Amino acid sequence: MTEITNADAIKAWTEIPRHIIEAFGDEGDLVRQHLLNPAIFSLLGDVSNKTILDAGCGQGYLSRLLAKKGASITGVEPSEAFYTYALRREQTEQLGISYLQADLSTWTPPPHAFDFVIANMVLMDIPDYEPALKNCVMGLKNHGGLIFSLLHPCFEEAGSAWQAKGYVEVRDYFRERAIKQTYGHFIHRPLSTYLNSVISAGCTIQKVMEPQLEKTVAELHHAERYWSVPGYIIIYATKSA
Ligand SMILES: C[S@@+](CC[C@H](N)C(=O)[O-])C[C@H]1O[C@@H](n2cnc3c(N)ncnc32)[C@H](O)[C@@H]1O
Repeated sequence: MTEITNADAIKAWTEIPRHIIEAFGDEGDLVRQHLLNPAIFSLLGDVSNKTILDAGCGQGYLSRLLAKKGASITGVEPSEAFYTYALRREQTEQLGISYLQADLSTWTPPPHAFDFVIANMVLMDIPDYEPALKNCVMGLKNHGGLIFSLLHPCFEEAGSAWQAKGYVEVRDYFRERAIKQTYGHFIHRPLSTYLNSVISAGCTIQKVMEPQLEKTVAELHHAERYWSVPGYIIIYATKSA
C-alpha cells in the first residue's frame, strides 16, 4: 500500500488543465499512436460487435477509436474533467459509447458483460488497484480478454533522462511507492506484483508485449530511449471459466 489514496489520485486527474485534455490527438499521444494502440489492436483483432470496457478511459480517445471500428463501448472514468470531456464528445459525435463516472475499485460491473476489458495506462495510477483489477475481471465473460498497459515497472525513468545520460537507472525496485509525475503520482510496483494479481484474479496470462519504437520514428521525435529500452508493457490475459 502507499501513502496516496484513490481519492487523492482522482483529485489530481481532476485538476488537469482543459487545454492538455483537448491537445490529446484523436489517436492519443506519440506513445499511444506508435506503441500502445498497435499492440492493443493486434491483441483485439476484429472488434465489430464486441462489448468492450475501457476502464479508466480518460478523455476517451481509445473508446472513440474502438467505437468507430464497430465495438460497443462502455467507458468508466472517475475524474470530472476527463469524464465531462468524453461525455461532451459523445453528445456531439454520437458513436454510441456509454460513459460512467466511477472509481474502478468500488464500481460493481455488470457481471459477465464484456468480451474485453482494457485498462490502458491506468492500474499504476490507482493506489488501491487490486479491487479495481478484480472488478474488471468480474465484468468479463468467461474466456474474455483482459488487456492492460503500464509504464514498464522495470524501466520507469522518463525519456527526458535518457537525453542527458543515454541509459535508464533503476533504484529501489522492490519497494511499492508513489512517484511524482506531472499530474499527481503513479505507483511503482514490481512487475511480479501485477502478474501475480492477474493470476489471483482468476486469469491466465496469454501474452506479454514490450513494444519497441521504430528507429526512424525514435530519431524523428528525439525518443531514442524507446528504441533501446522499453518504456511500456502490455499484458494480455483471459478469464478462466
Ligand atoms: C494515464 S491516464 C490514462 C487514460 C486513458 N486510459 C488513456 O490511455 O488515455 C490514467 C487514468 O486513470 C484514471 N484513474 C485514476 N484512478 C482511477 C480509479 N480509481 N478508477 C478508474 N480510473 C482511475 C485517471 O482518471 C486517468 O483517466
